[in-house]
Amino acid sequence: MATQRTFSIIKPDAVKKGVLGQIADRFEQNGLKIVAMKMIQMSQAQAEEFYAEHKERPFFGELVDFMTSGPCVVQVLEGENAILKNRELMGATNPNNADAGTIRHDFCLPVEDLSANAVHGSDGEEAAAREISFFFNSDELVTRV
Ligand code: CDP
Ligand code: MG
Repeated sequence: MATQRTFSIIKPDAVKKGVLGQIADRFEQNGLKIVAMKMIQMSQAQAEEFYAEHKERPFFGELVDFMTSGPCVVQVLEGENAILKNRELMGATNPNNADAGTIRHDFCLPVEDLSANAVHGSDGEEAAAREISFFFNSDELVTRV
């Protein structure tokens, strides 16, 4: 497996809890290098377009409201098998089902709101490419050795 890039968000709940550094540390300690990173306040239009695949799902409105409720950190992670590695570090979508040691287990319990599950991560190569370019220009990505 060659080096891959994936897109990640540290969601507003994690920023609010003051654990963004601890979450970034998980990536760095597990072979994922941060090659782009910025804190943003997502607009409603951005959140709706970013999560367009979930438009018909009953949780869509709440998810958009939550993602625009406070600052989040968007980033690009690079490493061997980065897409799957990041998904493993994140844990299951519902933190109640996430294994101990995963980000969602360690930073999201008890669960009050399924939108508030600390992180987003691309679920495949196509999504990674789309999501990276949704939030970053190519000149915002650095080369790291
Ligand atoms: O984020 P992930 O790829 O694990 O899950 P998803 O199925 O792509 O859903 C996107 C986001 O919608 C999740 O991270 C949850 O925050 C939220 N969601 C929700 O609020 N209720 C659900 N039943 C499923 C997902
Ligand atoms: Mg997803």
